[in-house]
Amino acid sequence: MAFHRKDHFYKQAKEEGLRSRAAYKLEELHKRFQIFPKGGRVLDLGAAPGGWLQIAAEIVGPSGRIVGIDLLPIDPLPYRQITLLQGDLLDETVQKQAMDALEGKAHTVLSDMAPNISGIRVTDCARSYELALIALQIAQKMLLPGGSMVVKIFPGDDIDNFLFATKNLFKKVRTTRPEATRKTSSEVYVIATQFRGTPLVQAPESPQEGDISTDATPEDASSAVAKNTHAPYDPLS
Ligand SMILES: C[S@@+](CC[C@H](N)C(=O)[O-])C[C@H]1O[C@@H](n2cnc3c(N)ncnc32)[C@H](O)[C@@H]1O
Repeated sequence: MAFHRKDHFYKQAKEEGLRSRAAYKLEELHKRFQIFPKGGRVLDLGAAPGGWLQIAAEIVGPSGRIVGIDLLPIDPLPYRQITLLQGDLLDETVQKQAMDALEGKAHTVLSDMAPNISGIRVTDCARSYELALIALQIAQKMLLPGGSMVVKIFPGDDIDNFLFATKNLFKKVRTTRPEATRKTSSEVYVIATQFRGTPLVQAPESPQEGDISTDATPEDASSAVAKNTHAPYDPLS
């Protein structure tokens, strides 16, 4: 079964001139969650070889603007709305270059970034969490109010912290696994829509009595956020 799924999406991508099977994941996510407006501005973090860029470019159209960045070089794509950059997003200078290249705020921030897999689950999940947090930090700086974010993460112990922080910045946060995801992969996508513009609850300067502990559940955070009485754990602070 896993072979057929892989075979199907791989073949289809080749036939349709798409650079990755991952392109079908983004297409499905847009159909379900409407993450791109026509003419929208998009930042694609971890964009090589460029399947997501192709899908985003088709949806936003020539009046949109897309910046794609990756550690690896990305072969040019025939869309004038796409700008390509190469660099390590763990480096703050590179993060700034990516944000500057968009020349304005974004409607959508995407991150399909994945660490090199070591095979040691805790290590891979921790690295994936680090990359997801960078995407969230960039989204917080770059998104227009009402904007959307899609972030891939390998779910480990830190996923609840990531969801805490995301719920504080977006009105709607969901996790999903698109059809084209390999059965053997544990990855999930966090789909965050309706960016608030400012965090619902600001992180306190220092822990105070009654603050939520780091092992609270996302539901604890949601209800605290709803009551606006406690600050959720904020891994961005
Ligand atoms: C699954 S691939 C992305 C596929 C892409 N969405 C597509 O459709 O073609 C993950 C990418 O994340 C990139 N990546 C991982 N860590 C990164 C980092 N620190 N800075 C920039 N890119 C990174 C990798 O080089 C890799 O190309």
